[in-house]
Amino acid sequence: MASARLCCPRCAAELPSDAGTCVGCDAPLPVIDGVRCLLHDAADARGRFAAQYAAFDREGRMQLEAIATTLADGDLPMATRARLQRLAEGVQQTSTISRMLARRGGLTEPAPHHTDATVPSVAGHGPLSNDYEYLFRDWGWGAHADDEHARTLALVRRGIADRPGQRVLVLGAGAARLAYDLHHALAAGHTLAVDIHPLLVAVAARMFAGDSLVLAEFTPNHLASPHAVVERTLAAPAGAAPGLELLLADATRVPVVPGTFDVVVTPWFIDRLDRDVRSLLPAVHAALVPGGRWISYGPLLHARGKPLSACVTESELLEILPSSGFTPIATHRDIVPYLLAPDGSGRMESVLVLTSEKRDGDHWSLPPWLRGIDLPIPRALRLDAVTPASPAAAAIASLVDGRRSALAIATALVRRGLPARGALDATIDGLLALLRGARAAEPGRRGRRD
Ligand SMILES: C[S@@+](CC[C@H](N)C(=O)[O-])C[C@H]1O[C@@H](n2cnc3c(N)ncnc32)[C@H](O)[C@@H]1O
Repeated sequence: MASARLCCPRCAAELPSDAGTCVGCDAPLPVIDGVRCLLHDAADARGRFAAQYAAFDREGRMQLEAIATTLADGDLPMATRARLQRLAEGVQQTSTISRMLARRGGLTEPAPHHTDATVPSVAGHGPLSNDYEYLFRDWGWGAHADDEHARTLALVRRGIADRPGQRVLVLGAGAARLAYDLHHALAAGHTLAVDIHPLLVAVAARMFAGDSLVLAEFTPNHLASPHAVVERTLAAPAGAAPGLELLLADATRVPVVPGTFDVVVTPWFIDRLDRDVRSLLPAVHAALVPGGRWISYGPLLHARGKPLSACVTESELLEILPSSGFTPIATHRDIVPYLLAPDGSGRMESVLVLTSEKRDGDHWSLPPWLRGIDLPIPRALRLDAVTPASPAAAAIASLVDGRRSALAIATALVRRGLPARGALDATIDGLLALLRGARAAEPGRRGRRD
């Protein structure tokens, strides 16, 4: 069973399956509990993951102290005491599991000295409690969640031709239940599930390995679970078939060899992305074979605070796709259960399944110098033919000198005062916008809408 072919995020060199450092540029390529971490600042990201685990642990200890202080008060009803004691047990159980996962991943050390983290990747900044609930829905609710999983799988499969051996890439895979279900239902050749959340990925790795974990689920609904905490056993329905893999990486620059996937799925992801969807499409385009399918699944429920222009609707997506190298071939809307928990909480949500086919043409794909963000950006880009849309775009264009990489430009912008976090994404978005402009300005292309 062939594995997914992966690349170095700094220099885009294809990586042998067992290399601990990049064969092209010597960048460290850590493996965290069996899962490769392919980020340009992997060593620093590891430190951030370790810091997140430590913060999660600290929070647990503070909760235990607060509960102990409350329990010391003699004036509590018996039922309240029982509830607080159950809560304390749940917190303890959660800490035990998260410490075990941190140990397995070698994430117990405090953040190491920063190497070149002037410009960090997107990984490791949010708390581990983000999206925690997916762990229970994906692996802990047993038969109760079967309908939710089955409906998701059926909707996503609408867009996928039924033939065994396909190579499937799931971006923003979360706790990876859909990737697991797709891999088995499609009899896929291999399925690569990519996310940047260290805890979700760590639990998914244990599930794929056939382990089980006992985790406490905290629920605010005291009607359904009087002790506000339920012990759940997380386990996959069966061991994962060979070829199902996890990767810690940034989905917007997913480090895979171009043209090596038949299907890319982005489940509940494009709206979660805090950037323009056009930041993601070049990576999806690059990953697919010509004629390969991209299936976007989920609501278009953009996060509060996201730039308004990036909060795209279905019709905006349909307008963007042809000029990004995709032919939309089917749209389907449905209303599906979302996080419908055994305690009765959850909701129904409107979702869109949008299936597109990749059109052949390298110019729509992430260019090599963005697949390897430390590669020089060629001067031949003719960015001088483009009128930058903003002072930021003009600054980026002025720094393209044939030697600097996207990483070097982002670093230069940070030195000029751009906040480090997000600087790389902003630089890449600026470069992609300039590329689109350069392409639109090409002789013979003006006015055409491909
Ligand atoms: C709304 S959740 C959806 C998870 C999963 N697809 C599901 O439906 O259960 C969005 C996921 O995207 C991940 N994510 C956000 N930005 C990402 C990025 N740049 N690269 C990889 N994963 C990312 C988050 O960690 C989170 O797991």
